[in-house]
Amino acid sequence: MFARNAVRTLTQTRQFSSSSARGINVTVLGAGGGIGQPLSLLLKLDPHVKNLNLYDIRGAPGVAADVSHIDAASEVKGFAADKLDEALDGAEVIVVPAGVPRKPGMTRDDLFATNASVLRDLATTAARVAPKANLLIITNPVNSLVPIASRVYEKAGVYDPRRIFGVSTLDVVRATRFLAGLTGTDPADTPVTVVGGHSGDTIVPLFSQSPSAKAILGDKEKYEALVHRVQFGGDEVVQAKAGAGSATLSMAYAGAKFANALFRGISGEKGVITPSFVRSNLYEAQGVEYIASNIELGANGVEKIHPIGPITAREEELLQVAITGLKQNIEKGYKFIE
Ligand code: NAI
Repeated sequence: MFARNAVRTLTQTRQFSSSSARGINVTVLGAGGGIGQPLSLLLKLDPHVKNLNLYDIRGAPGVAADVSHIDAASEVKGFAADKLDEALDGAEVIVVPAGVPRKPGMTRDDLFATNASVLRDLATTAARVAPKANLLIITNPVNSLVPIASRVYEKAGVYDPRRIFGVSTLDVVRATRFLAGLTGTDPADTPVTVVGGHSGDTIVPLFSQSPSAKAILGDKEKYEALVHRVQFGGDEVVQAKAGAGSATLSMAYAGAKFANALFRGISGEKGVITPSFVRSNLYEAQGVEYIASNIELGANGVEKIHPIGPITAREEELLQVAITGLKQNIEKGYKFIE
């Protein structure tokens, strides 16, 4: 009873809305972790999901046994470390929060050494077992790992740029929440588009495109502080957790929210638009092959990449800083894989 109500409550919000749901097979890689566990819970509640496979090198069968008792329709199975192929068999959407998180003082780039290998190995198996699945990369540094996964798929001869996503939704969630906190508006009514990448000054919130941010835009000090908070909001969580990791609950929410948008697109709903870090020609002329911007989701993943749209001179400056950082992050990913 509770779960049905819970699902109904979630589907009634814009965050987890339901379209004419067709059952989708989803695999979570890293399901035993700080993000993986609550993300698996939220995916269990999503009415689009038919089969939910949970994999981790540690603890996934336990998480699966636990989540599987929730009275939602999907079937949940857990897979131990040596069962990656089985976990990926038949997957249409693969969500990856596997890897190590930040500790105080670390940047996302500091995670590269460990997480680049984790992602390369998981992507190699995903490309072989479920080459047509949509791959949602949560693991950091997203800016470098999306290029790595893309090269892995290219080398395997199965690359479809429409199906590899860097999940930058937490930046959207933070920008929307922080703005609402300042303006006193309902976050559901004040969505913010965030473009660029997913780390520090590659994160570019476009407040000029949110009508409710008008007053903030006119107050330089407030505006700059808000932009900085969006760019470095992750550090607030890392510091508050004092060595115990980075954002997990808000990230699980953001990951489930992006997955729900993709599920709706796959299910045939039109006009599902949200930012994601994807292969893009928007700034190719400036040497950047991947960038986050609004994308429309559909049956084949990315159906359409929307232009950045009108922005202020200050936002253009921020975007140029982001482009410089992105070039380095993308190059670093390519170097690793070659
Ligand atoms: P965690 O350490 O709590 O969990 C990571 C899980 O990955 C662990 O259960 C671990 O056993 C598993 N794992 C490690 N190697 C694996 C492999 N080869 N195959 C399968 N599973 C493997 O870390 P947490 O907090 O869940 O963070 C995960 C990642 O998400 C980190 O890289 C973190 O930086 C990133 N993150 C991304 C955000 C975003 O906005 N995209 C926001 C917050 C975190």
